[in-house]
Amino acid sequence: MAVSSAPACLAALAGRDYLSSADISADQTRALLDLAASLKQGRSRIDLRGKTLGLIFSKASTRTRVSFTVAMARLGGQTIDLLPTVSQVGRGEPVADTARVLSRYCDALAIRTFAQADLDAYAHWASIPVVNALTDREHPCQALADFLTLQEAFGAAAKDLAGLTLAYVGDGNNVAHSLMLCGALLGVQVRVGCPVGFEPSAAVLEQARQLAAAHGASVEVLHEPVAAVRGAHAVYTDVWASMGQEEEKAARQQAFSGWCLDEELMAEADPRAIVLHCLPAYRGLEISAGAMEGSSSRIFDQAENRLHVQQALLAALLGGL
Ligand code: CP
Ligand code: NVA
Repeated sequence: MAVSSAPACLAALAGRDYLSSADISADQTRALLDLAASLKQGRSRIDLRGKTLGLIFSKASTRTRVSFTVAMARLGGQTIDLLPTVSQVGRGEPVADTARVLSRYCDALAIRTFAQADLDAYAHWASIPVVNALTDREHPCQALADFLTLQEAFGAAAKDLAGLTLAYVGDGNNVAHSLMLCGALLGVQVRVGCPVGFEPSAAVLEQARQLAAAHGASVEVLHEPVAAVRGAHAVYTDVWASMGQEEEKAARQQAFSGWCLDEELMAEADPRAIVLHCLPAYRGLEISAGAMEGSSSRIFDQAENRLHVQQALLAALLGGL
């Protein structure tokens, strides 16, 4: 089915779920990034022969929805978008029923929802691979794209990521969690800078620190932006109020005052440092227009890389390697 040089560790992912960055090994993470780079450069081709990915998104999405759809098309498969407004998902059909029925039609599901427990329920009831397309806890496909972008800036292969420093400044949210876990697997020194009260989850921090200890990485939480970004190879931010936190927007803008990723803050990072943001962004809040559009920004490469990492991931989970 495949014309590729993917290593054997990826074949072991066939039929598996990807609910968290920590669901796969360090070797598998590196192999996915290297396969994604190879797909991007046209050095590999994979044919999934008409397989179907179902999308169930209970939150808005541009990049994830479109990149999964295009990824499946490029792999010779297709996507069905089960919009909650037009399917029975929005009327509250039980996950146990939806997941079992869709497993009879589709070959994999990509799910964007609120609680990680809801995603876990889909994975429990589905007999096909389930992919986390963002929950309140994690955004693992985003982290793969982020580290591919760092790899492109500082190395030829995923192994070159080890020893680099990525500073994330802002809310200790889903995006931060997956960066911590995925970065720990890759040997990256991850620093999360956030105001007091907006730290990452203690459970995810503990999990990331255990992974980091096993892979020569580190995960630090700091409460001062300059200390967080000093000497870093990438400076990353995300919105201060995530989807589902709309009512906290005003209070969060106050709490995050002084935490904008701008040119002044970038001057504290490594001179070669790149600017990252998962998008969508609010210019003038968590990131300045100058940082977003400046020569250090790799934000639009990062968005493109969603397409390439998800092709690699889908190929592996759907047994296309
Ligand atoms: N970065 C990201 O997941 O974007 P969307 O919400 O547009 O999918
Ligand atoms: N943390 C953001 C990421 C959006 C891609 C959210 O969950 O809304």
